[in-house]
Amino acid sequence: MNHYRGGQPCAGEARLPEGTATLTPVTPKTPRTTETPETTEAAEPPASVTPARDWDAIPERNLDRRELRELVDELAGDPGRWAAEVDFPEDGGGRHYASLYRDAYVDIWLLCWRPEDDTGWHDHDISSGAVRVVSGALKECNPRIGGEHLETLVTDGESFSFGPDHIHRLTGAQPGSVSIHAYSPPLWRLGQYSISDSGVMRRVSVSYADELRPVDEPVDAEQVA
Ligand SMILES: [Fe+2]
Repeated sequence: MNHYRGGQPCAGEARLPEGTATLTPVTPKTPRTTETPETTEAAEPPASVTPARDWDAIPERNLDRRELRELVDELAGDPGRWAAEVDFPEDGGGRHYASLYRDAYVDIWLLCWRPEDDTGWHDHDISSGAVRVVSGALKECNPRIGGEHLETLVTDGESFSFGPDHIHRLTGAQPGSVSIHAYSPPLWRLGQYSISDSGVMRRVSVSYADELRPVDEPVDAEQVA
């Protein structure tokens, strides 16, 4: 499901959010705000939720992290917008994801996680973001130089937000995990990090269309020079 406001979609509709091994094409569809939600295990809304805003109700400006978190939390309670996109391909085609919405200020994705899915360390350049887990659990790690990395388990019903200064790594903590992600402004460049065996951390700027994956191979001494 792709929803674009303002005519043409922003460039980059095929970008790979949060690390995706393989692009799973998603056919653009018309808004499904009036459709009957499809029932899946991941789609059960909380008993009492405030109906999510229409796509057109999203402000036409950049959203801060609080607003992004509110947005993904609201969407979690409106599975008619995303439940049909939940999928776990059995053909080894990699992690499945779907673009739910994109305009000049925000883009929203649904991601389906297997335990082997790992984004590697990355930042989001100038974008803020928010993540809501709607099924299963994700593990978020934050790098700690010279110490144990911080690990946080984010389970079904929980969400978090972050600013452009945030560096993290996400992995699927349970089979069949599903999450909703929102970014503002829409991702264009990301920083991908490697941490060598000696603890040296290095950043490379990558395009939204590049695959996010672990790049923690030891840094060659000649490259460091
Ligand atoms: Fe991220």
